[in-house]
Amino acid sequence: MEIEPFSLEHWFDQYEHSADIMLAESGIRSLDSSEFDTDPGELGYVIPTDGDPEFKAEIAARYDRGPEEIAFTCGTQEANFLAFLAAMDEGSHAVVVTPTYQSLQAVPDAVGEISRVCLEPPNWSLDVEKVKEEIRPETELIVINNPNNPTGQYHSQETIEALYDVVVANDAYLLCDEVYRLLADDPLPLVASMGEYGISTTSLTKAYGLAGLRFGWLCGPAELLEKARQWKDYTTISPSIFGQHVARQALEEEREANILARNRDLAARNRERVREFIAAHEHQGLSWHDPVGVNGFLTVPDGFGSAKSFCRQVVEEESIVLAPGECFAGPSGGSEEDGAESPSEASDLENYFRLGFGLPSAELAEGLSRLGDFLERHY
Ligand SMILES: Cc1ncc(COP(=O)(O)O)c(C=O)c1O
Repeated sequence: MEIEPFSLEHWFDQYEHSADIMLAESGIRSLDSSEFDTDPGELGYVIPTDGDPEFKAEIAARYDRGPEEIAFTCGTQEANFLAFLAAMDEGSHAVVVTPTYQSLQAVPDAVGEISRVCLEPPNWSLDVEKVKEEIRPETELIVINNPNNPTGQYHSQETIEALYDVVVANDAYLLCDEVYRLLADDPLPLVASMGEYGISTTSLTKAYGLAGLRFGWLCGPAELLEKARQWKDYTTISPSIFGQHVARQALEEEREANILARNRDLAARNRERVREFIAAHEHQGLSWHDPVGVNGFLTVPDGFGSAKSFCRQVVEEESIVLAPGECFAGPSGGSEEDGAESPSEASDLENYFRLGFGLPSAELAEGLSRLGDFLERHY
């Protein structure tokens, strides 16, 4: 089994440490640990290792599922990883809606085979008929990230239901990475609550601003969870006891509502600022599809060539990190017939860069001001 390098992480590694402003972070700014009790007592494993039973039951109830249908994980990353390992093997296939976070493409591509169905710019809409066309007898999963990273597209309930009908008809699962869901003003129903073919993954990283907890979960049918637990014994054994201890406090009803209200308010204010910035620079070629969450996928201004060369010039001249669209192009090694190789998509993505606006407003203002100076200088 081979896995390709994670291009976004590599891009960040090159620039993040020395740059002044990180304008490509995909989540909301982090909360401070002083808001919580950080003493979990004895520093052992979480026992049972897939999560405290009472806490698991509380979270499972959000999905109308039982505690055996949920496992606590180290972030959404592990939840997705376990879902792919549990649902797929060497001979199986997944249809992945792209562009998307690289692990949602690279991991199933490493385990089995994938076909990609691209969202269509400029509105990043999904044609469910194209998903249907990619289904094979060995398809085990349709994979979607809603709201989507990097485009900020929030697929409608109608689209999600249409995808769910496809998996039901083909005895596959719909895996939805919902890590940005609670940044939406009006979140859609959870995919794992739609029925036995639905799998949801999420964490407290993006919407809550608690990435450092490394705490998330996988929710789905009991038989899938059983297989996922077998793999989990070989990945992290249990989530961190600190993560579980703080997550429990963050998810208490009143506290959760308060955290999410603050974060959505910050997201809305910052989104408005970026919207104004884009309007002011429209004549230089900047535009976006109004996003849900805190990621905007902006068009590369005219005259810079690829997104990578634009982003490189911006970080070198202004010390601001942006994320080039090429980092979301996914596996390059697929064969033509499985549709996994899609040079046209890779070159389309060269025309976009991701700007993350979940950071504190003053930092965002400084970042946008420098980006504005850069654009003025080059026009
Ligand atoms: C769609 C998506 N899923 C998962 C992750 C990883 O999240 P976590 O910190 O919960 O592992 C990210 C991070 O950017 C993401 O964008």
